[in-house]
Amino acid sequence: MTKLLKGARIIDPSQNMDAIADLLIEDGKVAAIGEGLSGDEVVDCTGLVLSPGLIDLHVHLREPGQEYKEDIESGTMAAAAGGVTGVVCMPNTVPPIDDPVIVRGILQRAAEVGKARVYPAAAVTRNLQDEGLTDMAALKQAGAVAVTDDAHPLALAGVLRRACEYAQMFKLPVMLHCEDKTLSGEGFMNEGYTSTEIGLKGMPTIAEDIHVSRNCTMSLYTGAHVHMLHVSSAFSVDLIRKAKARGANVTAETCPHYFTLTDEACVGYDTNFKMNPPLRDEASRLAVLEGLLDGTIDAISTDHAPHAKMEKDKEFGYAPFGVVGLETSFAVSYTYLVKTGKMSLMELINKMSTMPARIIGVPGGSLKVGCVADIALFDINQEWTVDPDQFYSKSQNTTFKGWPLTGRAVHTLLGGETVYQLR
Ligand code: DOR
Repeated sequence: MTKLLKGARIIDPSQNMDAIADLLIEDGKVAAIGEGLSGDEVVDCTGLVLSPGLIDLHVHLREPGQEYKEDIESGTMAAAAGGVTGVVCMPNTVPPIDDPVIVRGILQRAAEVGKARVYPAAAVTRNLQDEGLTDMAALKQAGAVAVTDDAHPLALAGVLRRACEYAQMFKLPVMLHCEDKTLSGEGFMNEGYTSTEIGLKGMPTIAEDIHVSRNCTMSLYTGAHVHMLHVSSAFSVDLIRKAKARGANVTAETCPHYFTLTDEACVGYDTNFKMNPPLRDEASRLAVLEGLLDGTIDAISTDHAPHAKMEKDKEFGYAPFGVVGLETSFAVSYTYLVKTGKMSLMELINKMSTMPARIIGVPGGSLKVGCVADIALFDINQEWTVDPDQFYSKSQNTTFKGWPLTGRAVHTLLGGETVYQLR
C-alpha cells in the first residue's frame, strides 16, 4: 500500500529542494519524489508546503512525575499539531532522566501513545545535583541522544570539564542552560530599566553571558560538542559567533519568544511572560534575530515548558518559569521571520528540522529517498488567532495568546501515517 502526497510545494533543505512535485510513501519511507507519480492512496496537497517534520530540541514532556502539566501523549499530540515530528525531552522530570531504566520507560511509553518521535536527553549529573556524572554510556545505549542538566545549570567548571570529556567519548552533545545562579540569584525577569520601573527583581544578562563564555571555552578546550540552550542575550550571541569563528564545536538555539518579545511584556505582571532565561531588552531581541540570520544560531526550539493554570495564577515572583510553544513555533517564526522577508522558508525549515536532526544525530530533517516519512504539511497562507483553549497541550501558558498569525500545520505524518489533521 503506497501513499501519494500530490502537488505540494516540497521544501527540503537537505537537498536544497524547493519545487512543486509529488511525494510517494512506501513502508513508512520516502519512496520517490517527482512529477506525475501514482500511488494507492492519493492525498491532494495542492497549495500546501510539504517539508520534513519539524524537530524541536528543547521540550519538557513532564513524564514521569508531573503529568498534571503534560504527559508524553498530550505533549507529542501538541507537537504533531505544530508540524513537529520529533522532540528532545528534557530530564528535569520526577524522578529525573538519569538512569537507563527511565530512558527505556519514556521510549516505551512514546512507542505506545506518542504522536511524535521522542528523543530523551539524559541528565549530566545524578539527580541533577551538579556532582557525580551519570552513566552516559548506558544512557546512550538505552536511547538518550544528548546530556543536559537543563534548568539546573552546571555551576562547577570542573564538573563541566569531566562531563564534556566523558560525553565526547560517546558522541553525545552536551546541552547547556547558561546561567550563573550566583548572578541571577532570586530574580524573576530581565534586570534592566523595566524591572526597575515595575519593581521586580532582575536577572542580569551577564548571568547568561558568563556561562556562554565558559561553555564555549570548554568546548574549545575539550573538543566536545556543546549546544547552547535557549540563547537570549546580545553578548551571548556574539560570544558564540566568535567561538564558532575559532572553530569551536558549538551549536546554539533560541526560541520564538526571544526574537518577538522584550521584557516590556512583563509590565502587566502576567506570569505567562515569565521564563528562564527571561525576555531581554530590544537590543538583545535584535541581536538574537541577527544571530539567527547570520547562522550563529543554528536552530529554533521552543523550551516548551508546560505549567498548570493554578501554578501560573500567582504573583509574578511565586509562579514557575516557563511557557509552552509547540503549537505556535512554526506560525510565530513564519509570521515574524519569513512573511517579513527576513528569512527564506527553506532557511526556516532548515533551522526547525534539518539542523536539529543533525545536532542530535537522528534520522529526519530530510526527504531524500529512503528517509523516514516524517512529514509536515503547512498552509502558509492561513491566518489564525492563537487560542490557548484549543491547545492539545494540557497547559495554556503561552506568550502568544490572541496573536494573529499566518501559516499553520494542517497535516502531520509520522512514518507515513497521519498523526494530525487540522479540525
Ligand atoms: O523557563 C523555563 N522553564 N526554563 C527552564 O530552564 C526550565 C523550564 C521548566 O522546566 O519549566
